Amino acid sequence: MCGIVGYIGNGNVYDVLIKGLHRLEYRGYDSAGVAMVSPEGKLKIYKARGKVENLEQYCKDKDLSGCVGIAHTRWATHGEPSDLNAHPHYSDDGRLALVHNGTIENYKVLKDALTQHGCKFHSETDTEVLVQLIEYIKVKNDCSLVDAVREALKQVVGAYAIAVLEKDNPDQIIAARKSSPLVIGIGEDEMFLASDATPFVEYTNEAVYLKDEEVAIIRRGEPLKIVSLENEESAIDVKTLEMGISQLEKGGYPHFMLKEIFEQPSTLLDCIRGRVVEGGRRIMLNGVQDNKEKFLGEKRIVIVACGTSWHAALLGKYLIQDMCRLPVEVEYASEFRYSNPVLDPSDLVIAISQSGETADTLAAIQIARGMGAFVYGISNVVGSSIPRATDSGTYIHVGPEIGVASTKAFTGQVMVLTMLAVSIAQLRGTMTSEQIAQIGSCILRIPRLVEDVLKLAPAIERLSLIYTYARNFLYLGRGYSYPVALEGALKLKEISYIHAEGYPAAEMKHGPIALIDAEMPSVIIAPDDHLYEKIVNNVQQVKARGGSIIAIVTEGDTVIRNIADHVLEVPRVPECLTPIITSIPLQLLSYYIAINKGKNVDMPRNLAKSVTVE
Ligand code: M6R
Repeated sequence: MCGIVGYIGNGNVYDVLIKGLHRLEYRGYDSAGVAMVSPEGKLKIYKARGKVENLEQYCKDKDLSGCVGIAHTRWATHGEPSDLNAHPHYSDDGRLALVHNGTIENYKVLKDALTQHGCKFHSETDTEVLVQLIEYIKVKNDCSLVDAVREALKQVVGAYAIAVLEKDNPDQIIAARKSSPLVIGIGEDEMFLASDATPFVEYTNEAVYLKDEEVAIIRRGEPLKIVSLENEESAIDVKTLEMGISQLEKGGYPHFMLKEIFEQPSTLLDCIRGRVVEGGRRIMLNGVQDNKEKFLGEKRIVIVACGTSWHAALLGKYLIQDMCRLPVEVEYASEFRYSNPVLDPSDLVIAISQSGETADTLAAIQIARGMGAFVYGISNVVGSSIPRATDSGTYIHVGPEIGVASTKAFTGQVMVLTMLAVSIAQLRGTMTSEQIAQIGSCILRIPRLVEDVLKLAPAIERLSLIYTYARNFLYLGRGYSYPVALEGALKLKEISYIHAEGYPAAEMKHGPIALIDAEMPSVIIAPDDHLYEKIVNNVQQVKARGGSIIAIVTEGDTVIRNIADHVLEVPRVPECLTPIITSIPLQLLSYYIAINKGKNVDMPRNLAKSVTVE
């Protein structure tokens, strides 16, 4: 969590930083701050609790001149959201300012030692320890800032992406990273740094992704220099960004979330482009053919992920089991990493993460690789940490997802998992060519069918008005629709703050059925699949207890239509593709309910898009 930005160049420093912070606000919005050094060597630090707009308000009558600057948007870990705990933090003597994304695990030990040396701390954060430690080393060793940063980071345990500014040296920024992302943008006579490339994509498409324990020396008028903590110089690997500025704007929609829901026909098209070939008869997914022996040799697949990506992972289990006849286990990455897992080189681990930065998923990957397993990653953000930490993998290619609630990334992940399952089945010979062609040709039709599903939006908006003030919701599904129920419930919880539970519909009778009354709506995902007859019984059970029912059914349904209070019809697709189609009405329902309640759907309270802390 937390977003950091830095800029050195001839442009308007404050404007570049504030715009950058807005782009990174999805990473946290508990407080924001900027530090700038003016050409005459004055260090100015402005901070405000809350969103970036509060900081802008605060800065209105301030001196905003500067030739270099760093900025931060915070997701609080150590210390409550407050002006005092907001970044940038500064050294005791006021010469250094620092922004940080990550957590310093040994901050208490370092803080105690520095306090004994007379350092005074002004905040409750772990971050302040870093800036005080750097200053302490700099003075003690009478060394340059970069040397002090290297030495300080050798003493630190934890995760960091930092940028440091020095009052007496307005022509440089020193930055470093370990386990938290940091990318440097190289423009003409200007350089940027940020947690991801979105703050500088409109100025340059040349980016350098810093690696763990690398320190960047960003100096005005000089080429970028990168050294290790041991001061060995690294080669500069410049990548060209594929992202465009239009992808980072709302494009006429009131919220990123709604834009991203409506983008799904095109994001799914991008996701399948070039991968489903010969009219659907063959699927080619990156990293499968070239690691054929791994996909043929594995005895078991373990999928690790968090949140929405975990729901996609659960669908991955159903897909791979069905199509490849392989045992699959699905683990929350945060549990897996501390569960003393049993893995060996015959296991294949799949790690799923939209951001590619989730700390628990990254740790799970390291553990799995440490035990000799082959790890295949599925991510959205190109160049992020997870694709670099895995043995092989692929991208979902759905473009930047800005809304904190994941929508287009979920359908992209499920699509990639479907294509992955078919690819493995192709290799293993567990599906006939007719079966592959049937699914392949339907995958090609999905973007078009999703357009039809989106036409339900006005009906869902009307329906949302009836249920806006419900205090609890149940989401029920069976088979492929069970993970969809979990995802639907998560969407509602995170943006409308209504309590919602996803449940396997048949498990209801073992407890949750006691909750059903006229006040408890149930959303039942009931497409016409091999469990349809079974779920009809579950629908009856809810109805018999006076609960109201919103059902997602296949078009032409006649049975559930007569029992449920409201039905939303979606196009008929093969069972394995129903989750992509049925999850979209649930995204819209959550969106409209949250809007009716006046909630900020793009930035729900307490959440951040990228969870880079444990
Ligand atoms: O970037 P990741 O896919 O690893 O993120 C995992 C979760 O933090 C994420 O899916 C979260 O649950 C979303 N807010 C859900 O909408």
